[in-house]
Amino acid sequence: MSASPSLRAQQLGFAYDTTSIFESLDFHLGPGWCGLVGANGLGKTTLLRLMLGELKPGHGALVAEPKGARIAWCPQRVEALDDTIRAFSEANDGTARRLVGRLKLDVSQLERWPTMSPGERKRWQLAAALHQEPDVLLLDEPGNHLDSEGLRSLRGALKGFNGVGVLVSHDRALLDDVTDSTLRLVPGGARLYRHPYSAARALWLEEEEGQREQHRETKRRLEKEESKLEAKRRALASASKMRSTAARMRNRYDSEARSLGADFRAEQAETSHAATLRRVTRSAERVRAELENVHVVDEAGQALFVRYEPCPKPAVVQHGGIQLGRDGRLWLKGPNGSGKTTLLKRLLAEGCTVPEERRLVLPQELTLEASQADLETAKALPNDERGRVLQLVHALGVEPDRLLSSPAPSPGEGRKLRLALGLGRHAWLLVLDEPTNHLDLPAIERLGAALKEYPGALLIVTHDAQLGQGLEADELTLPA
Ligand SMILES: Nc1ncnc2c1ncn2[C@@H]1O[C@H](COP(=O)(O)OP(=O)(O)OP(=O)(O)O)[C@@H](O)[C@H]1O
Ligand SMILES: [Mg+2]
Repeated sequence: MSASPSLRAQQLGFAYDTTSIFESLDFHLGPGWCGLVGANGLGKTTLLRLMLGELKPGHGALVAEPKGARIAWCPQRVEALDDTIRAFSEANDGTARRLVGRLKLDVSQLERWPTMSPGERKRWQLAAALHQEPDVLLLDEPGNHLDSEGLRSLRGALKGFNGVGVLVSHDRALLDDVTDSTLRLVPGGARLYRHPYSAARALWLEEEEGQREQHRETKRRLEKEESKLEAKRRALASASKMRSTAARMRNRYDSEARSLGADFRAEQAETSHAATLRRVTRSAERVRAELENVHVVDEAGQALFVRYEPCPKPAVVQHGGIQLGRDGRLWLKGPNGSGKTTLLKRLLAEGCTVPEERRLVLPQELTLEASQADLETAKALPNDERGRVLQLVHALGVEPDRLLSSPAPSPGEGRKLRLALGLGRHAWLLVLDEPTNHLDLPAIERLGAALKEYPGALLIVTHDAQLGQGLEADELTLPA
């Protein structure tokens, strides 16, 4: 019997040129699903590409066992029709037929790839990865674009897999249902929890609260030490002053012995104050150093700030029976394939009164090239506008310097940049097609809060019920 497969990272480090992504990761994954989670741009996809062997570690090692273990992956981006998908479409074995049925694929339609929706492409990618029946299966956000039926099929397929599985996802329900461990990326490092997402999250929140408490306590001690230090400084200054005043005021009536005694006492007091001052200074320095070592995770982050000038026209969209005022909100709903994206496109092309530069259009999927172009646009903006856009990027949880220097923004970074470009440039109309795709959970919450405050017109398609309901928008459900 062959040994069960595993993936082991030892002191794994990786950098893109000079941008370090990981310093030193250690973990060991055995059979079962492990959720790989962490903020956008921290390196989840990079880690999968290292596991796949497509990227080489800068130092340390990442080893799959047994030797020659088969590794398959389902990429996050849906642009490419790759060889594994073609090979799958030509296979005719039992597994292939089952997958075609389960994921509702039509093999004769593959050549329609360029016009397929992101959800359809995602199903093809998944089927091609599952069909390889690998020892190690790497899935990068497989739930994106799938409707509830697609998600159900996905869960079923994942539960039937016996090898080492790594699942990148921001979908809490999927993670809790399928995984039994969680690898959490934090800036520069990672930590493995032997629990599914929600239980692991409860643990790290508890740890972070402990660190915050330690931080508060150390700060209190520092304040105490500093006020002691101040009191000692004052005591020393007044002892020195008294000694020199005593020396100045000495007159011919003072006996030699008396003045010698006073001098001695004053000198002693000064020496003792100086010694205490040195001791208290050392102790304050120690506490200060301790404080620097207590690592505190940023709590809620900044709220997304939206500055706004209202659109002069009262109606921004008018088409067929649909009308949207300058502060109107419309939530389009309906299953995969019901035509939500097509309707958005039609409304924009035929019924929109807002000039293009005052619209923010976020399509369901942004290509790498589109995000690279956005980055060039952001860099070329006048200073004040660029400042506003980067402030928004930061508020959504992306380090602006890192983004500006990245030749290949990650999908999450790309979406945040597009949102920031629109908001930072005072859009009058937001057209958002599944805006939460690829976004990490804190960013989804901040986006929800910002959209709630946004005073302009909003057209949104989202499968995220929590986000939709929070917007208090009119709802329009398209039939299947
Ligand atoms: N080829 C590259 N060269 C330089 N930097 C890159 C390259 N590819 C990605 N990056 C940068 O490295 C960082 C990690 O990218 P990665 O795609 O691994 O993040 P991620 O955690 O998967 O993000 P997301 O949640 O958005 O998918 C990002 O800041 C990204 O801009
Ligand atoms: Mg990624």
